[in-house]
Amino acid sequence: MKQRILIVNSGGDCPGMNAVIRAIVKRADREPNWEIIGSINGFDGILSEPLEIIAFDNECVQGIHIEGGTILTTNNKRNPFNYPVKQADGTFKNEDVTDKLIYNLKVFGFDAVIHIGGNESHKISLKLSQKGVNIVGIPKTINNDLSVTDFTFGFQTAAQIATEAVDKLITTAKSHNRVLILEVMGRDAGWIALHAAIAGGADVCLIPEIPFNMNTVLEKLRSKYSADGRGFANIVVAEGATFKDENNKIIKGNIARKIAKKLKEINFEADIRETILGHLQRGGAPIAFDRILATELGVKAFELVQEKNFGTMAIHKNFELTHIDLKIVIDQYNKVDLSHNLIHTAKGIGISFGD
Ligand code: F6P
Repeated sequence: MKQRILIVNSGGDCPGMNAVIRAIVKRADREPNWEIIGSINGFDGILSEPLEIIAFDNECVQGIHIEGGTILTTNNKRNPFNYPVKQADGTFKNEDVTDKLIYNLKVFGFDAVIHIGGNESHKISLKLSQKGVNIVGIPKTINNDLSVTDFTFGFQTAAQIATEAVDKLITTAKSHNRVLILEVMGRDAGWIALHAAIAGGADVCLIPEIPFNMNTVLEKLRSKYSADGRGFANIVVAEGATFKDENNKIIKGNIARKIAKKLKEINFEADIRETILGHLQRGGAPIAFDRILATELGVKAFELVQEKNFGTMAIHKNFELTHIDLKIVIDQYNKVDLSHNLIHTAKGIGISFGD
């Protein structure tokens, strides 16, 4: 009798998800008696009647490691502990459907689940593991906000896309003597902004971990212009960055627009334009680094299942491929540490954090 693993994606997509799926399938194919099945759209697939699942073989994952997105589709609103269930009157009510999930896993012969997700998704992994599900996690998020692993796959691709955006914005900023503001993803952690600011060459980098002061930013921008108004400047801001206005009110959300508005209100001398990079950072092919990392983690996750090392997550730590208990994972959110060498480096080349 074959052993069956169910792959489930959770949360937002990110480059490398297909490479993980391919790696799990290819690794399993080298062993006798394993079947790899994918659940469509997060936990929906295994909860649907009839099930919405894909039975993978080597052929159907051929070459998918270079494709962005995920062939399984994914969802960030399908937590099985708080899952939208259609009621008799047609409305939806959130309910705990994990008993049904566990029943379906058993009835349809699944021996284990490999759950690919970010911080929030692995809170679900842990709770499922505590309810007896044989589960192994794989870390995924463009925000790089899981500290138990050196990098989450998808992050380097997102940082590369953001860097290319900075490169492009600098050429147009220079041509028009403008200030260009680029807003990148990073609700709670400023890793993408920090990497893009250093790699692209920004003048100002604003991240959630360092609430900024508009006057300090202004001072830096002014230093980039000559008395006759020539010059240009470039700001990279993470979506979760904040500042306090003159009434001590914390300003957050739509942050690039708010910074531009503020600069215009105080009649900053140069023209200002803002760009919100948004989901471009999550789309497209993963760069080589993320394809490799995703492949390593896929292989490792399969082997953890094979060894019955459940309730764990495959990780890459200190140049080693290893694993960690899911209980440790969820406590460790990876914010940019202010003593991190990249903060030191950025400050060392004159990038202002507005602090
Ligand atoms: O958590 C990753 C992330 O990309 C955030 O940085 C961003 O705010 C959010 O997802 C966007 O989510 P959605 O795709 O649901 O709009």
